[in-house]
Amino acid sequence: LADSLKEHFAGLFLVGSAINSEQAAQTQKDTDLVIQKQFNTVTPENELKWERIHPKLNTFDFALADQYVNFGVTQRMFTVGHTLVWHSQTPDWVFEDEQGQTLTREALLARMQKHISTVVGRYKGKIQGWDVVNEALNEDGSLRDSKWRQIIGDDFIEKAFIYAHQADPNAELYYNDYNLYKPEKSAGAAKLIASLQDKGIQIHGIGLQGHYSLTHPALNELDDALQLFTTLDIKSMITELDVSVLPFPNDAQQGADISQDFALQQALNPYPDVLPKAQQEALSQRYKEIFALFLKHHSTISRVTFWGVNDANSWRNNWPMRGRTDYPLLFDRNNQPKTAYDALMAMPLQR
Ligand code: G3I
Repeated sequence: LADSLKEHFAGLFLVGSAINSEQAAQTQKDTDLVIQKQFNTVTPENELKWERIHPKLNTFDFALADQYVNFGVTQRMFTVGHTLVWHSQTPDWVFEDEQGQTLTREALLARMQKHISTVVGRYKGKIQGWDVVNEALNEDGSLRDSKWRQIIGDDFIEKAFIYAHQADPNAELYYNDYNLYKPEKSAGAAKLIASLQDKGIQIHGIGLQGHYSLTHPALNELDDALQLFTTLDIKSMITELDVSVLPFPNDAQQGADISQDFALQQALNPYPDVLPKAQQEALSQRYKEIFALFLKHHSTISRVTFWGVNDANSWRNNWPMRGRTDYPLLFDRNNQPKTAYDALMAMPLQR
């Protein structure tokens, strides 16, 4: 009988985790042991982002990224690079010359190429798959109006893929985005990928981030999206899976300080100490339903990566408002497996 996620789902898809430097120092060692035992793929959560790795013009800082990539390599895990071209976490200087003027298309393309060739080139043979472009689509499936697109034009996406392929012809190259279960957005992604393929550009996978909750997405929408992506000649992967159990705050609540407001705490941070049994069960059930869809589409899904190891180090505690207690992952704050873990391990599988 399998006693790890990677063994349980072996032959179906890889199972992985994000790794981050915030995984509380005193539990880092425990967390590393969970990663080594449970997973066969890792994605550094923040360390390869432009602002971290290339904070100033001509200044690269590889110290932490090297450490994380080497962890993956030493553990013989499929190591994913996240991410090369994104509208977020990219410093303003990237788009400006030294006088603060907006760069020309040619100058920004040159800067993009230098970044990609330096970063992808450094980890050639170590990072096996790259989230080349992240979150380029609006919710309606049209292209997001980012600085990349404003300055370069719609072809910033294909250029990024071309530069990445030149830098490491053996690496898998992915387009990665959230809410890809929404019909309009998944249609936009499918269209984007088909247009790259028509031009002969190398793209090998679509990443569905997978930031879910007990109520979203509707299972039929996720099923339809996964089905749509089977019609493209690429792999699908779930790249940033977590399932929030907390209510989603409304617009006015999102910025609120709930530390002194008991009513708001009850409404928005209802399980500050421990997740009650009923919600544990709801989370387990939800994970089972979602994984049933991954299994249904396993012939195109190559990987399922959780966005963190345990509940303590999940970004979901701080989004969309700070300082909550969420329970989105399979391991609790002491790195113990939750009932959701047991539920997945008990799923009958057909290979
Ligand atoms: O490490 C610093 C710390 O030194 C400082 O005191 C603190 C003050 O704010 O910030 C800490 O860095 C934060 C970091 O998370 C670690 O907690 C950054 O401000 C914060 O921006 C960063 O958030 C990350 C976010 O991306 C933005 O890069 C999250 O960890 C990470 O989970 C999240 O991941 C994204 C994916 O890249 C793309 N898809 C959506 C996903 C969730 O937003």
